[in-house]
Amino acid sequence: MFRPVCLCTSRIHSSAALLKKAPLKLKGRSGAEQRWLVRQLSDPFVKAAQTQNYRCRSAFKLREIDDQYRLLSPGLSVIDCGAAPGAWSQVAVQRVNSAGERPDVPRGSVIGIDLLYIAPLEGAHFLCNQDITHPATHAELQRLLPQAYADVILSDMAPNASGLRELDHERLVSMCLSLLELADRVLRPGGSLVCKYWDGALAHKLRDGLARVFRDVKTVKPKASRKDSSELYFLARTFRRT
Ligand SMILES: C[S@@+](CC[C@H](N)C(=O)[O-])C[C@H]1O[C@@H](n2cnc3c(N)ncnc32)[C@H](O)[C@@H]1O
Repeated sequence: MFRPVCLCTSRIHSSAALLKKAPLKLKGRSGAEQRWLVRQLSDPFVKAAQTQNYRCRSAFKLREIDDQYRLLSPGLSVIDCGAAPGAWSQVAVQRVNSAGERPDVPRGSVIGIDLLYIAPLEGAHFLCNQDITHPATHAELQRLLPQAYADVILSDMAPNASGLRELDHERLVSMCLSLLELADRVLRPGGSLVCKYWDGALAHKLRDGLARVFRDVKTVKPKASRKDSSELYFLARTFRRT
């Protein structure tokens, strides 16, 4: 069974209380490694991801957003940006029925893109080692999408954390702004976009950019997103082509 370690970019929790619970086998590891392992081992979403066969705990973030806002339904076409290791794509495949598991409802499509390799998943088409901010990737997506349009763009992408909070924030905002170009090219009028950002001084710039082309933009923080992380999501609905 595919079970990679998900190096998702939420910041490391520094609770000494958690470390006290650390089993002896953690001895010999660095403090940061110990804290990361202890947090993983005591995280209910990590456990739930294992029992429910998700590649990563982040699946529960998308599940919660979708349970509340109903973005994904059978027959829709979805682009999943920053898709590795593939947990959001797993949720999208289930909800748009792109593996055709439910013959009674329309069959959708899921295309995932990442700079990294993504192990194959039935019902998803992955573009590995590709940069979503690059216009050539947009052209490739347009070619692969059914009727050249997507109904939903998802982005949980994040740059490698430099450790400099403001710099990481700025880089992620700039990556998210490039999704507006992608939307302009492939998103169907009325479509939706979900994108992760790290809160900071330029968040308003991203919100304003989204509000120019989507009728409704709101900030969401699913329960699976760690409280000590500056991670938030913009949910933008009802795309209006300019
Ligand atoms: C937090 S992980 C995504 C986890 C994923 N949503 C899941 O549920 O499995 C962020 C991903 O964004 C990817 N990424 C960062 N910059 C990217 C870019 N310019 N184009 C495509 N993917 C990118 C990273 O390689 C990383 O795999």
